[in-house]
Amino acid sequence: MRSETEMNSPNDPPRTMRWNGGPEGTLTMIDQTLLPVEFREIECRTVEEVWEAIKMLRVRGAPAIGCAAAYGVVLGLQAGIDAMNRVAFDARLQEVADYLAGSRPTAVNLFWALDRIRKVAGEQTSLSPQEMHARLLDEAKAIEAEDREMCAAIGRNGASLLTEGMGVLTHCNAGGLATAGDGTALAVMFAAAAMGKNIQVYADETRPLLQGARLTTWELQQRGVPVTLICDNMAGWVMKEKRVQAVITGADRIAANGDSANKIGTYSVALLAKAHGIPFYVAAPSSTFDLSLKTGDEIPIEERNSEEITKGHGRQTAPEGTTVYNPAFDVTPAEYIEAIITERGLIRPVTEQNVRQMVEH
Ligand code: MRU
Repeated sequence: MRSETEMNSPNDPPRTMRWNGGPEGTLTMIDQTLLPVEFREIECRTVEEVWEAIKMLRVRGAPAIGCAAAYGVVLGLQAGIDAMNRVAFDARLQEVADYLAGSRPTAVNLFWALDRIRKVAGEQTSLSPQEMHARLLDEAKAIEAEDREMCAAIGRNGASLLTEGMGVLTHCNAGGLATAGDGTALAVMFAAAAMGKNIQVYADETRPLLQGARLTTWELQQRGVPVTLICDNMAGWVMKEKRVQAVITGADRIAANGDSANKIGTYSVALLAKAHGIPFYVAAPSSTFDLSLKTGDEIPIEERNSEEITKGHGRQTAPEGTTVYNPAFDVTPAEYIEAIITERGLIRPVTEQNVRQMVEH
């Protein structure tokens, strides 16, 4: 069973997750479904609890899901390890990784992290199950630490795109809560603010689960960056009124041609930005690119429960039995993206050649 512990004060900088102890340890994560009303951490002791936390968006955001899954494998290999030989350990590893891969389909970071863990095990067949288990924990920690560094580099690489006095619109939450570090889109804003630039962030509330209202405003307030919350359907008008000079969002999966999947509603924002001549940027680490997909048409889009729309946040807002369509993500074509901000630099213009050059080398 998951045990829950009240943690810290709400003013502490959020640490999305942390591993406690050695290979037999546990994984503590912020329960993001409770924010901003309550700051509570959950302690996962089994792979099933990590699966549930990913599925229910207690931990969410592409890079954070990848980190959580890597630690989830370590948890899944704890039970009965002393009685296992290496063949049984490897079989269990595949079983656990396949299970975690079924939690959410769109963010490629999940599959990227699981593949990286599988690869490490595949390369070191001479280690005992216990040695391999410890090695996999090290790998999970490396994935988390590298993610933190990637966020910082994305912030540095993107900060020059924002200038004094700019209004910057973002959609969903691509902040620290969605990663192990400062985030992707928000890292750029944090870096610009740290350079002394006064920027004004507009956060789309992001129906139906309100990651913008609940999480992005919370993070920006904590870090002292001015933020104004708007409903999703206000973005066009805010642009028309010239309050916004740039849009930056995160991504869940980027195809080889630069088409980028992100939270549902991002595509509409990109179209609005195009219509108003406002640059639309995507900020994402290389772990979010899926070069096996030629275009965004091949990106699997998660569909979620209809009750997220009809009974979201504890209140019924549509008649019983209403037919609902609830895709959780959409794909913004590369032609609408001014640049992709990665930890390695800017991809601009967004073409397959430039994507491959940045990500493959
Ligand atoms: O459904 P969610 O909350 O996991 O969706 C998250 C997003 O769409 C983020 O923008 C994306 O994962 C990038 S996070 C750095």
